[in-house]
Amino acid sequence: MKNITIIGAGTMGNGIAHAFAQKNFNVNLVDISQNALEQAMKTIEKNLDRMVSKEKITINDKEKTLNNISLNTNLNKGTQDVDLVVEAATENIDLKLKIFKQLDEICSSKTILATNTSSISITDIASVTNRSDKVIGMHFMNPVPIMKLVEVIRGKETSDKVTNTIMKLSQELDKIPVEVNDAPGFVANRILMPMINEAIHTLHEDISSVEGIDTVMMLGMSHPMGPLHLADFIGLDVCLSILEVMHEGFNDVKYMPSPLLRSMVESGNLGVKTGKGFYDYSEGIRNKKVSEIFKK
Ligand SMILES: NC(=O)c1ccc[n+]([C@@H]2O[C@H](COP(=O)([O-])OP(=O)(O)OC[C@H]3O[C@@H](n4cnc5c(N)ncnc54)[C@H](O)[C@@H]3O)[C@@H](O)[C@H]2O)c1
Repeated sequence: MKNITIIGAGTMGNGIAHAFAQKNFNVNLVDISQNALEQAMKTIEKNLDRMVSKEKITINDKEKTLNNISLNTNLNKGTQDVDLVVEAATENIDLKLKIFKQLDEICSSKTILATNTSSISITDIASVTNRSDKVIGMHFMNPVPIMKLVEVIRGKETSDKVTNTIMKLSQELDKIPVEVNDAPGFVANRILMPMINEAIHTLHEDISSVEGIDTVMMLGMSHPMGPLHLADFIGLDVCLSILEVMHEGFNDVKYMPSPLLRSMVESGNLGVKTGKGFYDYSEGIRNKKVSEIFKK
């Protein structure tokens, strides 16, 4: 594997591009928005600068990583002769089905098609292609350059060969892959999202403040970050879509999204990426430690 295309240059896409480029893969980063591509390059550069200042990589490594990434707004051009596509576009089933149908038509029959979806069925995504044995979930965690886990999700027809290739590839990125079967939310979000949703219900019922709820979970359960702060990092729109997929997929009210979550998404307060969620990020709080946020 040498040539990789990442589709979507948002929170996850830029991190996935960074991780592959740093390991010397040729990366095509594709997004419908030129602005998203430019922002992604700025984010990658800033994150590489941080690694240089911590002496984790050299300036030469930084330049090489940036040079390994090309940007494209055209899916056809961005998927020529690639071994693997990792789709990390907006969490929306119709959008993902459309992208995979198109990818199946334009990519070589050998290309493996992976998705970074948080919750949508890999089997459903694979069903719109003529290569369901080569469609797989490659679920990275946020922030990708730092987080070790990759959930590798097998659809009903994903082959052993493709699964093994993606497990090995994840290790080449210095990640630790865990193989899981296809089910709404897979493992990570099936367990995480009900906790985040419950934290939002607890806030909505005025049982405690944002800081209070996060502090209970950090100090009481040794979580490195409280659930409301984590929801801001993930993106409240992403949390809402995952809960909706699980609610529908399991037909169980325990996954029904909190009305407060829904109203925050409707009002455009999506967390870190919009500058406001449960916390205010307008003064760049994002880079501060949680303990410093609480002092404010
Ligand atoms: N945010 C997280 O913590 C997280 C963690 C793991 C997985 N995921 C998953 O990763 C995927 C991306 O999430 P995100 O948080 O990066 O979203 P995001 O909103 O930050 O970015 C999505 C990007 O996709 C682009 N896009 C939309 N339609 C496109 C198309 N047709 N072609 C190319 N690009 C297109 C948008 O312009 C945007 O830049 C989702 O499936 C999400 O569930 C998110």
